[in-house]
Amino acid sequence: MLLSVLISVGFLLGCGLFLAALLLLAEKKILNYGICRIQINAGRKELEVAGGSSLLTSLAEHNVFIPSACGGRGTCGYCKVTVHEGGGAIHPVEEPYLTPEEIAANVRLACQVKVRRDLDIAIPEELFSVSRYRARVEHKRPLTHDIVELRLKLLDPPALTFEAGQYVQLESAEYKGRESVMRGYSISSLPTETSHIELIIRLVPDGICSTWVFHHLKNHQEVNFSGPYGFFHLADTDAPIICIAGGSGMAPIWSIIRDMQARGITHRPTTYFFGALTQRDLFFLDEFKQIEKDAPWFKFVPALSQEPADSDWTGERGLITDVVNRHFPDASQHEAYLCGSPGMIDAAIAVLQNNGMPEHHIFYDKF
Ligand SMILES: Cc1cc2nc3c(=O)[nH]c(=O)nc-3n(C[C@H](O)[C@H](O)[C@H](O)COP(=O)(O)OP(=O)(O)OC[C@H]3O[C@@H](n4cnc5c(N)ncnc54)[C@H](O)[C@@H]3O)c2cc1C
Ligand code: FES
Repeated sequence: MLLSVLISVGFLLGCGLFLAALLLLAEKKILNYGICRIQINAGRKELEVAGGSSLLTSLAEHNVFIPSACGGRGTCGYCKVTVHEGGGAIHPVEEPYLTPEEIAANVRLACQVKVRRDLDIAIPEELFSVSRYRARVEHKRPLTHDIVELRLKLLDPPALTFEAGQYVQLESAEYKGRESVMRGYSISSLPTETSHIELIIRLVPDGICSTWVFHHLKNHQEVNFSGPYGFFHLADTDAPIICIAGGSGMAPIWSIIRDMQARGITHRPTTYFFGALTQRDLFFLDEFKQIEKDAPWFKFVPALSQEPADSDWTGERGLITDVVNRHFPDASQHEAYLCGSPGMIDAAIAVLQNNGMPEHHIFYDKF
């Protein structure tokens, strides 16, 4: 009896394996899409690619880099491109990331479009200047118990041109059975220093890339990243500024404020609210004190939401959004630059709009 059960199970297993192998063979041989042509921006660039991969991967293999903060998992919504022809039906994974207007305009997530035939697509013109870089870790230094600063020396190409506030996509290496992934990190250094970039990275519990940075990446090790990406940068207006950030959301703001200083933008009063839990989550305090001394237009307001009541902290306490609310009951004339968790940003937007700030004055990068 036991023997016949074992034989049946073995037979079924064998059939399953045979079918799986057949499907793989079919994918390779029968579903051979051959060479497909991708026309980009009405002929600005034309690629010939082997069909079968995602549009995101096919473009990257030909040095056309589309933002992809989740590395192609369909969970960030960053990889939007317009597919005029050849994209096939929209995938259910894409729908939550696309507005009805975008769907009507044939906007798609490049990571979900498979290249099966010739494609006619449009991408933002700025993406043609995105490159892949090889760099060496010059230092990795702790800023707090769960935040490090990485300083990378660019090797090839040797220089990067970017605007303060933009980000790069760092590629982690494989480690302990975890795949290589790409994740977005804002550049915290100044655009004038083109030979190096600095990043401020917070350890996300069980996060693939941040764990790699924290526990596996060593000084002098080589890394790859692509960039620059993003539209989060100082708008060319005269409006006074409110910056709000928490944790590693410091990175782009640290770059933007020092860039304003370096460019002599002194006519835009700027207040920077930095939210943290306790004193051990604060960093760059001395640096900001120095900027306040050198730049009368700048004010730094750190606020702690979980600092013990009996500690020696004399600064602001409470949620950063409540602190902003107290300082700016009327924010109608200001512009805001926000960086941090989606929850913090949504709450900050609600406070600012409630206090009169028009929606188009609010710029943000959600981490
Ligand atoms: C434009 C932009 C700029 C950014 N800039 C910065 C910056 O300057 N500094 C910074 O620190 N971060 C920044 N980020 C965030 C950063 O890109 C990463 O999202 C972050 O570091 C986490 O990546 P990770 O690979 O470590 O975690 P992930 O592996 O992506 O995991 C994230 C979370 O999901 C959970 N998770 C992972 N896999 C699974 C699974 N299969 N099932 C269930 N849960 C899972 C993990 O446990 C973890 O809690 C930025 C993001 C964007 C979009
Ligand atoms: S790369 Fe993140 S959704 Fe496509």
